Amino acid sequence: MYAGFVNNMNYTHLKKSVLNSSISDTVLVKELLKLQKIYTQDRGLLNKITWNDDNISAYTLFYMLTNMPKLSFLYDKLPKELLKEIEKNDFIDFGCGPGTYSWEHLKYLKNSKKIIQIEHNELMYKQCDRIAKDLFSNYLIERKFKLEKNKSSTLLFGNSANELTNENILLKIKIVDPKTLLFIEPGTKEVFHKLNMLREDLFKLGYKFIYPCSASSSCCPIKTDDIETDDWCHQVIKIVHQDEVERLGQMAKMDRRKMPCLLWALTKNEVKLQDLSLPKEAYLQRNLSESKFAFNWICCVDIENKNKLLKFEILKKSLTKSEIKNYKNISTGITFNYELVKVINENCYRVKLI
Ligand SMILES: C[S@@+](CC[C@H](N)C(=O)[O-])C[C@H]1O[C@@H](n2cnc3c(N)ncnc32)[C@H](O)[C@@H]1O
Repeated sequence: MYAGFVNNMNYTHLKKSVLNSSISDTVLVKELLKLQKIYTQDRGLLNKITWNDDNISAYTLFYMLTNMPKLSFLYDKLPKELLKEIEKNDFIDFGCGPGTYSWEHLKYLKNSKKIIQIEHNELMYKQCDRIAKDLFSNYLIERKFKLEKNKSSTLLFGNSANELTNENILLKIKIVDPKTLLFIEPGTKEVFHKLNMLREDLFKLGYKFIYPCSASSSCCPIKTDDIETDDWCHQVIKIVHQDEVERLGQMAKMDRRKMPCLLWALTKNEVKLQDLSLPKEAYLQRNLSESKFAFNWICCVDIENKNKLLKFEILKKSLTKSEIKNYKNISTGITFNYELVKVINENCYRVKLI
């Protein structure tokens, strides 16, 4: 029963485990709209959210269920060797809330070791505890208020690093000293600029970037002070959710089919990156509007160990009908291999995906 449930975190089952299991759709929508306002307009109020049974139930049934696939999206991009290592290590979910990424981690890496959930809000802790007891009682899960040293671990910040100062994030990383570090944070410009300031410190601690790029220097072409590019490195995941979640989204007029987020994976492990360092690999940074004849993408490519942003043009006549349909809905943040068809100019290549 549990394994099946992990494979499919189902809204109807989950509703029985939220703090207010008889919450009505009207109250759910009302609470979601209040949370949305804070997440999109008043982020300064984040630390001041007064959690109660109703808004935690709304968060769990909507934000948790829609956030979960972000971890699978990230895991899909990691080398298999690193995933095996993550599966063998303890998984620390910092700021776990209702347990969002712990559940997705268990779904993806079925032979996972111990899960350690850190949450300082007592009601969130209670919500997480209830889901763990109701739905994941077969797994080794510990819930704690504080971090401890754990060198054989993966430490994930899931929409929690943006609520901390950079000094505090570094302090927490130093306390745990994990092998692998994962970030799943809001895909806003402010969060990118804030976390980008951590790059050098993370390199000094011995971490290497695995995703979104493998550049181990501060050569991110989209820099904090770059006034020419009003852009920032983030991903946009496009996904259709289960029917009940889609229905809730429609009632609240909230679109979670396109989710901007900032995904990072870094490790101290010696991972063979052959699948990441193929000579012609690119990272889809941004989707520009398509023309009648071509898709236009801004891509990040490694040229002589420096990342560079290039415009890629992919001619529609070189694609099948189903490829055209897929490319219209493509998520940014994917990596792909390509063949050069023509250099249009030094900043624009016509390419074919392989
Ligand atoms: C926006 S929620 C994210 C929940 C979940 N990770 C997700 O992405 O759906 C952020 C959570 O981090 C928790 N949090 C923030 N700072 C924390 C700290 N210093 N120690 C423990 N938990 C913290 C908050 O209480 C909150 O539940």
